[in-house]
Amino acid sequence: MRLGIVMGTGHGARGTTGQLVDQLVERVAATGDLTVDTVCTDDLDLGPSCPACLSCMTAGEQACPSYDRTAPARRVMDEADLVLFATPVHSFHVSATMKRFVDHFAYLIHRPAYVGKPAALVSTAAGAGHDAALGYLRTAVRAGGSTPSASSASTVRGWPRRRTGPRSTPPSTTWARPSVARRRTPPSLGQRPPT
Ligand SMILES: Cc1cc2nc3c(=O)[nH]c(=O)nc-3n(C[C@H](O)[C@H](O)[C@H](O)COP(=O)(O)O)c2cc1C
Repeated sequence: MRLGIVMGTGHGARGTTGQLVDQLVERVAATGDLTVDTVCTDDLDLGPSCPACLSCMTAGEQACPSYDRTAPARRVMDEADLVLFATPVHSFHVSATMKRFVDHFAYLIHRPAYVGKPAALVSTAAGAGHDAALGYLRTAVRAGGSTPSASSASTVRGWPRRRTGPRSTPPSTTWARPSVARRRTPPSLGQRPPT
């Protein structure tokens, strides 16, 4: 099987999302032949956002100013038997880099290219927002014609860190890097972590 992975995290393979995806790949690889092509959305150099020129919709995707930079990702998705989209939850949504990626392929909503192609969706979070992030990805992937056959959420245990100061201490403005220990949640999404 050829697996295409779209990684919407700036933390790469060593981040929480990357490590979770690695574990999934290991398990799939154990079941048979597997070729994996990975696209890190942050590496595509897509600029701050989609330029919103609508050229991809009106003149064809080749008219996108970022076409050359999106083309390798398009190839990975085209050639894959299954595409896995993975994102951390950022402010109850997908990461900005994943959103920017989806925006650059918005023409697929009008010209679905992946009818019948299975997709799997993964999100990681400190505890909340899986439902919105995975719901959005599901909508985007379906709009492109693909069939999200599985979605999974993983909640990082131990975040936010327990406060050590008095109750009046304002919350830290530094987001702690999560520990790699994870609790797998069932697909009932959006649960809070245990306190
Ligand atoms: C800007 C930002 C926003 C975040 N928003 C949320 C959130 O809304 N809900 C949540 O549970 N975790 C949130 N987190 C925590 C991340 O989802 C979590 O640490 C994730 O597993 C990190 O994956 P990564 O290492 O691949 O980046 C946020 C993290 C960042 C950096």
